[in-house]
Amino acid sequence: MTIFYFTSTGNSLAVAKRIGGNLISIPQIISDLKPEYKDDAIGVVFPVYGFFIPKMARRFLAETKLSANYTFAIGTYGNMPGACMRNVQKYALDHGNRIDYAESLLMVDNYLPNFEIADQIAKLPKKNPEENLKRIIADIEAQKKLEATASLLWRLFTSAIAAAEKAWAKDTQAQSYILNKDCVSCGICAKICPAGNISVTDKVQFGSNCEWCLGCVHLCPKNAIHLKNEKSAERWRNPEVSLKEIIAANNRI
Ligand SMILES: Cc1cc2nc3c(=O)[nH]c(=O)nc-3n(C[C@H](O)[C@H](O)[C@H](O)COP(=O)(O)O)c2cc1C
Repeated sequence: MTIFYFTSTGNSLAVAKRIGGNLISIPQIISDLKPEYKDDAIGVVFPVYGFFIPKMARRFLAETKLSANYTFAIGTYGNMPGACMRNVQKYALDHGNRIDYAESLLMVDNYLPNFEIADQIAKLPKKNPEENLKRIIADIEAQKKLEATASLLWRLFTSAIAAAEKAWAKDTQAQSYILNKDCVSCGICAKICPAGNISVTDKVQFGSNCEWCLGCVHLCPKNAIHLKNEKSAERWRNPEVSLKEIIAANNRI
């Protein structure tokens, strides 16, 4: 089994690790995609962004062929997946990729403009991530098929969010980040950026190709990177994933 994954703060990588198999980070292959990837089973694991999937995971699903007897997609999310998984199945199919099983998993929400991490951690036990992940793993082992559904209301709401994506994308530029005096130019932010959008010489510079994954904000060892509109200064990294693993997954420099 091969799993292609995208992660910023480790939730999706923790899930991919638990499912197992040969794990391949999408940022590591995105600039040199093979026309086809083959295995008996192939999965894709990613975080839900704005009720859909990260731009890079979208590109991956659109620009390569996944050839397997069984395929699955798991979206990790923090509060509301909207019609994400239904739309992923449809999007993949529109680009020639069949997804047999599409499911989402409720975890900590790392979207700092809307949520406080301390509050998210306190709410985690009620989200039952462990029990839900065990069910998903059992489903995958049994090669269960699952067509994701979403109510009409969710589908309409998700389309409205997608239509607003261009406006939303303007928040993802360099001016959204505030660098405080604690920055020591260690370069970790550049290494954990899946888009290779950060350079560090004597100071940190953000380019214009941001995925808006917020990894640099969450994982800065000095907590020196902030958002103008963040709810609080606490940060998140999934405890089952090390900083070293996220660097190995995302480093593009
Ligand atoms: C830009 C952005 C958009 C997000 N949008 C959603 C969303 O629409 N619905 C949701 O429930 N969670 C949303 N989240 C939360 C993440 O999907 C969630 O925390 C995910 O598990 C993070 O995975 P990772 O640790 O692998 O990066 C968003 C997070 C970010 C950074």
